[in-house]
Amino acid sequence: MARISAGITTSHVPAIGAAVDLGKTAQPYWAPLFAGYEFSKRWIAGHTPDVILLVYNDHATAFSLDIVPTFAIGCAERFQPADEGWGRRPVPVVEGHPELAAHIAQSVIQQDFDLTVIHRMDVDHGLTVPLSLLFGQPAAWPCRVIPLAVNVVLYPPPSGRRCYELGHALRRAIESFDEDLDVQVWGTGGMSHQLQGPRAGLINQPFDRAFLDRLIREPAALAQMPHIDYVRLAGSEGIELVMWLIMRGALHERVREVHRFYHVPASNTAVGHLILDNTE
Ligand code: DHB
Ligand code: FE
Repeated sequence: MARISAGITTSHVPAIGAAVDLGKTAQPYWAPLFAGYEFSKRWIAGHTPDVILLVYNDHATAFSLDIVPTFAIGCAERFQPADEGWGRRPVPVVEGHPELAAHIAQSVIQQDFDLTVIHRMDVDHGLTVPLSLLFGQPAAWPCRVIPLAVNVVLYPPPSGRRCYELGHALRRAIESFDEDLDVQVWGTGGMSHQLQGPRAGLINQPFDRAFLDRLIREPAALAQMPHIDYVRLAGSEGIELVMWLIMRGALHERVREVHRFYHVPASNTAVGHLILDNTE
């Protein structure tokens, strides 16, 4: 059967992707950020999964405001990197896993989570920047990737509790897939940031550090936090952190922290990153 070996969270700031693509990772502004991912790159070289279920949000790229699904799963064979206004990122095409994705869609929908099924979609920085951070610049991504898109751009986004419970359903779905696959679940976005309005630039380090601790040790309690607390404490775009609860809900109650990194700022965002071992 398929099994979930690890969970990874990371911010997905688009300027990080530009720094990679333009060869600027060693510049003084960026070097401390990329240093925090050096361990992760070595770790994942020895723990490359067969498939990543990558939880991210589309930033009005694939979905216009005409249609905004709350939760959507990518069941296509492949996904092109999106043109977000300055051309497609020069990164490999993302190869999907249609069989596992279709199984997850069936299992999760039958567990009463109404996923939207996507057969054609381009993927934006929310998905490609985390791949660049962990895998660098390979000619092809080293594993399959199933995109799971979550609405956090148009009110109302799903609650943290709903996201955490979706994680449980995803775990049951993956563990009931009748093929011996090593699967990782990634949650992207966050940490605190606000890109708009009078509070643009808001960063809340005490909130972020507590969130990292609580995500590992008391995720069920953390999942009770209402939207308004994310917005007040972590900024309007801090709501992206609900996606980390989907990742966490897919793991065991107890997990082993393999790596933690926190860095302020990258662009307008506090960058947080965790690797959690789910094999024990
Ligand atoms: C920034 C961060 C994001 O998560 C995003 O989607 C866009 C921009 C930023 O900090 O610039
Ligand atoms: Fe974002």
